[in-house]
Amino acid sequence: MTFNRRTLIGSALALAACDGRIDAAAQPTSRGPAPALRDLAPFPFGTQLISDELSIPGVADLARRHFDQVNTGFELKMEYIVQADGRLRFDGGDRLAAFCRANNQVLHGHTLVWYADQPAWFERLDGSRRAFEAAFDGYISEVAGRYAGRARAWDVVNEPVTDEGSELRESLWSRNLGQDGHFVRAFEQARQADPDAILFTNDYHLESNPTKRRTFLNLVERMVRRGVPIDGIGTQCHVSVDLPRGALTQSMRDIASLGLPVHVSEFDCSMIPDGVFPASRRDRETAQIRLYEEALESYASLPAAQQYGFTVWGVRDAESWLRRTDYGGDASDTPLLFDDEGRPKPVFWSVAETLGG
Ligand code: G3I
Repeated sequence: MTFNRRTLIGSALALAACDGRIDAAAQPTSRGPAPALRDLAPFPFGTQLISDELSIPGVADLARRHFDQVNTGFELKMEYIVQADGRLRFDGGDRLAAFCRANNQVLHGHTLVWYADQPAWFERLDGSRRAFEAAFDGYISEVAGRYAGRARAWDVVNEPVTDEGSELRESLWSRNLGQDGHFVRAFEQARQADPDAILFTNDYHLESNPTKRRTFLNLVERMVRRGVPIDGIGTQCHVSVDLPRGALTQSMRDIASLGLPVHVSEFDCSMIPDGVFPASRRDRETAQIRLYEEALESYASLPAAQQYGFTVWGVRDAESWLRRTDYGGDASDTPLLFDDEGRPKPVFWSVAETLGG
């Protein structure tokens, strides 16, 4: 009997239905129970969580059933951890770490240093070189050290390249420690704090902006040549339905050419096109399915040693950052695998088939 995707999924569903393994997150549908994506994926398959979401009925069940990796969307960032008086807050990160441990999931820490996170506690040290260095080193040492043995990996420096793509960003960190200096220091401090953690740098629009991709990869190559302990590359992949066919494949190929582990770290596919695109919802749903498939297939084509993981940036559409109008989002957007009620969408079934294949 030859196993094809449908047979594989069908038999898994039949077995699950027989022995009552169908749990609340299995969402029996007209197609039968939704298969656990983490069991189908040939590589770690993750999601992004904020600990408050674990209190939303059904979200924790979906997160534990379908994903074996959790990327922290907010609570391991400075904006959450660093309080006005300099004290550090860890309740959110600890809750996510406990959830991962309880569900045999990998915790991916996001992110130690980000141009967009410049807490007042650090800004008051702006220009005081020695004090700034000590606070920077101390922060990374305390945070990465606290999660040693609990976080498998860290996004150490997030989004180092400008939107336009030809330059490295200026920030509070680069201003006080140097453009290369802050990057080198962050990775060296993280390595010292947790020698076993896999250390990433992570950026977005690498698939839609070849200039940015080249600048980012040149930075990584230069740092690796300097002996900076960069272990992996994160490509966020926040895409929209009008991304041209083949862009994700080409980007994955270029990123993988450095030979490092690759993390598709924040995949979502907005139904709101960046440019001009057919207005029909059906056309946009078809395009969304195609882009999820292309991303997964190009990722699955990487050597196994480079498949660190594929992370979807959230569980239900309802909690997606793309819905946040204060973030320039659109309340009608549906970028993820599960709808507002946590039901699997057509794109979920396509992803299940692609993963199972
Ligand atoms: O949890 C608090 C809540 O208690 C409070 O009432 C509310 C009012 O301000 O804020 C809530 O925290 C918000 C948090 O998301 C959880 O919803 C923060 O203000 C808000 O800044 C935070 O936004 C996150 C954003 O990064 C900034 O950290 C988004 O969830 C997260 O999806 C987004 O993720 C980024 C990646 O880090 C980098 N790549 C782009 C990606 C999307 O912007």
